[in-house]
Amino acid sequence: MSAIVEAFSRYLPPKVVTNEELSSLMETSDEWIQQRSGIRERRFVDAPTTTSDLAVEAARKTLGALQGKSVDAIIAATLSPDYDFPGIGVLIQAKLDLPTIPAFDLRNQCSGFLYGLELATALVQQEQYERILLVGAEVHSTGLDLSTRGRDIAVLFGDGAGSCVVSREEARATTGTGLRVLRSELHGDGAHAPKLWCEHIGSAHFPHRMDASLIEEGKCFPSMQGRKVFEHAVKRMVEVSLSVLEKEGITPEQIRFVVPHQANARINGLVAEQLGIPGERVSQTITHYGNTTAATIPIGFSHVLEEEEIHQGDYLLSCAFGSGFTWGATLLQAV
Ligand SMILES: CC(C)(COP(=O)(O)OP(=O)(O)OC[C@H]1O[C@@H](n2cnc3c(N)ncnc32)[C@H](O)[C@@H]1OP(=O)(O)O)[C@@H](O)C(=O)NCCC(=O)NCCS
Repeated sequence: MSAIVEAFSRYLPPKVVTNEELSSLMETSDEWIQQRSGIRERRFVDAPTTTSDLAVEAARKTLGALQGKSVDAIIAATLSPDYDFPGIGVLIQAKLDLPTIPAFDLRNQCSGFLYGLELATALVQQEQYERILLVGAEVHSTGLDLSTRGRDIAVLFGDGAGSCVVSREEARATTGTGLRVLRSELHGDGAHAPKLWCEHIGSAHFPHRMDASLIEEGKCFPSMQGRKVFEHAVKRMVEVSLSVLEKEGITPEQIRFVVPHQANARINGLVAEQLGIPGERVSQTITHYGNTTAATIPIGFSHVLEEEEIHQGDYLLSCAFGSGFTWGATLLQAV
């Protein structure tokens, strides 16, 4: 029994923030950001807008493509929820006026979409659900240190949302191109958690999890050991991609398009090179959107399916790496 991913959609808030604009807030430059990351601009919300608001915008487009059919569960991935709790899943459900369907929340950061995809695939294959709305969404801009202190991270991230539906093959809702999930492999290694995390607010702080001195120290902003994360990201994305391909008996040359997470254009360049896949067959949304964490991969697929010639039978590969560390790869085939 197959799971088919369909109706990819995206929503990016309209406000474009260029590297030059960030240079007026911190000591950085367009040249540094482009050279080190490949990013030219990103989107930031410019009015009170929550992560679930962005998720709903993308999800409405996905649901609108389902030809009257609905979904019977939601899986929502984000590291920037509207509230400490509840998660955004139920907020999306309420804003979309969906019935009392279950809503799962995933906290797997940049790998969140692939974690969600594996979960959704398993659930529809078990016949527990027919169609699951899978959404990745982030509002990073209001949680970044936009001063020189936070520049190594702040220049990398952007806001956005992407969504799709994971359907049991017999319950497909669209006639457009769908992607059959052939194989997925996920990993995690929490020993590396401090290399990329946001320490505050959390139960790690005793006796009060909310602490003004931690905010002053900037612990409420994400922190990252960039070079170490970079090295692990390249190694792990190549390793897990090759593992998935090998288990399915597919060679990198057979891959029509790769949709990797977008943390750094140089990471993706090295991953493509080490997989032996030409750069023109690798999605590169980071230039205009930066890193939108859990939203990145569905946004990438929505572009690829719109802009590239994808034919039935084509293989597509997605891979991700992020905070945790967590990483994974999924092989799909166009149907
Ligand atoms: C963050 C990253 C772009 C930095 O690139 P890098 O080539 O490793 O650069 P470094 O961190 O070594 O910093 C080089 C110098 O630039 C400075 N710098 C950092 N951010 C800067 C910025 N925005 N503008 C200008 N200079 C900056 C550093 O302070 C450092 O200065 P120094 O040499 O005087 O100490 C890169 O490490 C990276 O992409 N890491 C992985 C990101 C990732 O995968 N995230 C995981 C998924 S979310």
